[in-house]
Amino acid sequence: MGFSYRDGRLFAEELDCEAIAQEFGTPCYVYSRAAMEAALADYHDALEGCEHLVCYAVKANSNIAVLDTLARKGAGFDIVSLGELERVLAAGGDPGKVVFSGVVKRPEEMRRALDIGIRCFNVESEAELDVLQSVAAASGKRAPVSVRVNPDVDAQTHPYISTGLRENKFGVATDVAMDMLRRAQTLSHIDVVGLDCHIGSQLVDMAPLLDALQQLLNMVDTLEAEGIRIHHLDLGGGVGVRYRDEEPPAVADYIAAVRQALGDRDLCLVFEPGRSIVANAGVLLTQVHYTKDTDAHSFALVDAAMNDFIRPALYQAWVDIQTVAPCDAQPRTWNIVGPVCETGDFLGKDRELALAPGSVLAVKGAGAYGFVMSSNYNTRPRAAEVMIDGNTSCLVREREGIDDLLRGERRMPQ
Ligand code: LLP
Repeated sequence: MGFSYRDGRLFAEELDCEAIAQEFGTPCYVYSRAAMEAALADYHDALEGCEHLVCYAVKANSNIAVLDTLARKGAGFDIVSLGELERVLAAGGDPGKVVFSGVVKRPEEMRRALDIGIRCFNVESEAELDVLQSVAAASGKRAPVSVRVNPDVDAQTHPYISTGLRENKFGVATDVAMDMLRRAQTLSHIDVVGLDCHIGSQLVDMAPLLDALQQLLNMVDTLEAEGIRIHHLDLGGGVGVRYRDEEPPAVADYIAAVRQALGDRDLCLVFEPGRSIVANAGVLLTQVHYTKDTDAHSFALVDAAMNDFIRPALYQAWVDIQTVAPCDAQPRTWNIVGPVCETGDFLGKDRELALAPGSVLAVKGAGAYGFVMSSNYNTRPRAAEVMIDGNTSCLVREREGIDDLLRGERRMPQ
């Protein structure tokens, strides 16, 4: 949904992608509003009849128009910084539906989140719990707290995005979490409300997710027996998407399995999906400027680079790359590479495509961890972002200019 080919031309909802590239220039991120709404609806539909909150993980794509779109459809938000909190507020998000994750929450971030009245702090260490207690006491507020459990399960994903192993920096081991919750219960300005975990991203097997859930449920039962009532379980994000031939669980199947494991326990279910909401709701458009043949490869030299979309360089991620319109040239095998001065700067290798200088290419699955991970490396202005809604396009982030990049820097006084 969102992007489809009609007579060999790529459309974003009702608009032709080549025309979008012409209007807004390249490189340019293009999002489909309907696609992200549909992905959120998959979660809401599967959770019907069960108390729940879907907190979209802002880090996956934090454009205010994206947050606005999801907030209007009832989403809450999972944030990891004050900046993400301010984005949610600027987008009209409800602070009462915000959960705050992250291993280093600074006191000023906690203060603002308390003032605004967020739903929950997902606490990741004993030291953080103590700082939160003192910040809350100083503000005369009570902090709603969940403890992030590190269930020590192997999420079987790329090691850089696996977070639920004992050796990772995230959360605390189950026994430590139990002691923290017992202690939290006695603190004057803390309310224990939940348990959470997030074991990794781009998961294609739900077994580790369900394994982690079972550990949380065991903890809930033990705590209940001790008189400590847990109100919500937050299972994090992590459900993978299809970039190539992966077969991630359908959201409906995953949630059905979660609901079954939950049984008749009276718990609110919280999820923090990022990728599964936005990845396939976005493409990155880039134009071929030159082609070059060497003894080893044929290179298609495009205007998007690793600074615009770092996933291939950082995780060796494979993403589909296609032309947005037919081209008369013979199909050949290309390495699609950008202007940045590093051999690691590639978007895709060994792709069979009919292209020529001037062709516009679409990098698929770029809606998640795309623009948000972009940088100004090589003093390259960051790309524009455009949201498509039916047959209208809306520039939701202007392309940066060189002035934006130089702002705040200065020469030496002498
Ligand atoms: N909750 C927490 C606490 C997280 O750390 C994350 C992602 C999520 C939710 C959302 O997970 P998702 O549903 O998107 O899998 N940059 C990497 C992905 C990093 C994920 C970090 N945490 C990539 O491009 O693959």
